[in-house]
Amino acid sequence: MARIVRPDEAGIRLAVDALGRGDVIGLPTETVYGLAADATNDQAVRKVFAVKGRPESHPLIIHIARPEDLAALAVDVSSYAKDLARRVWPGPLTLVVRASASVSRLVTGGRDTVAVRCPSHPVAHRVIATFGKPLAAPSANRFGRVSPTSARHVAEDLGDDIDIVLDGGECEVGLESTIVDCTGDVLEVLRPGAVTLDALQAALEDGARRQRVEDGSSGEARAPGMLASHYAPRARLVLHEVGESFDGKGAPILDFSGDQTDAARSLYARLRALDTDRVAVAHVILPPPVGMGVALRDRLTKAASGR
Ligand code: TXA
Ligand code: MG
Repeated sequence: MARIVRPDEAGIRLAVDALGRGDVIGLPTETVYGLAADATNDQAVRKVFAVKGRPESHPLIIHIARPEDLAALAVDVSSYAKDLARRVWPGPLTLVVRASASVSRLVTGGRDTVAVRCPSHPVAHRVIATFGKPLAAPSANRFGRVSPTSARHVAEDLGDDIDIVLDGGECEVGLESTIVDCTGDVLEVLRPGAVTLDALQAALEDGARRQRVEDGSSGEARAPGMLASHYAPRARLVLHEVGESFDGKGAPILDFSGDQTDAARSLYARLRALDTDRVAVAHVILPPPVGMGVALRDRLTKAASGR
């Protein structure tokens, strides 16, 4: 069973030593917990796919300690991607850029692009900086299931297969990072998240050239592995708009139409609680599709489409 470890100096040392041996660990980030391995060690990266039960064609995000570390992983980085890295990192934003030759094609699922993120969680930062190499990490849930936002969630899901989960408390954001494809002339959102379209626009606006931001997140899934069946609890979810009247027949009602920060932070814990309580059907009140409501609706729609 995995040990939940306090992220003091000894805990960080334990985690870094495990990574050095090619092991995978549970790592807190500000979005969700990651299942992290040395991104430069293919043996270690293979363990990530095996533990998660994820097909090797689904690429992983590489996590770096400092925005400058992007340079070693990428080539031909567009000027707007550099602006985003400078202005939004560290934070819940993943940039898809052209991969340099040094990036393992196992991490990219054979693609010549790579997804990179510089997390703002202090524990993630300390582990990556102390380790001195980038970490490949998907969310630390079994493939297709609800993402983990606490160390306990990770231990419950993957505890039999990993030795260490660093405890960084509950994730502040609670939703996976916003993913943007920066390889074209126009930036495209592949997965909505806490960094909203408005925030992306604002980060680019005072640059020399105003970039158009295209929201591709509602179209065909461009980020491989973003299946409609992801994020699903066992319970069947019935979605409703705010103000819609319905007969819940006594089933639990999860209302996500209030404060968006709170809604995002509590989303996955609430979906997990449905499974713990063996709930068969629950009703969900969606937030309006503005700001982080776009990302919340994306995850809830996927969660409702079941397995
Ligand atoms: O917040 C997050 O992003 C969390 C934490 C741990 O950092 N990680 C996370 O990883 O959500 P994961 O593996 O659950 O989702 C990664 C997504 C997948 O949908 C994958 O298809 C996409 O990133 N992705 C990775 N590399 C890509 C690439 N080269 N091109 C397009 N999409 C890519
Ligand atoms: Mg995931």
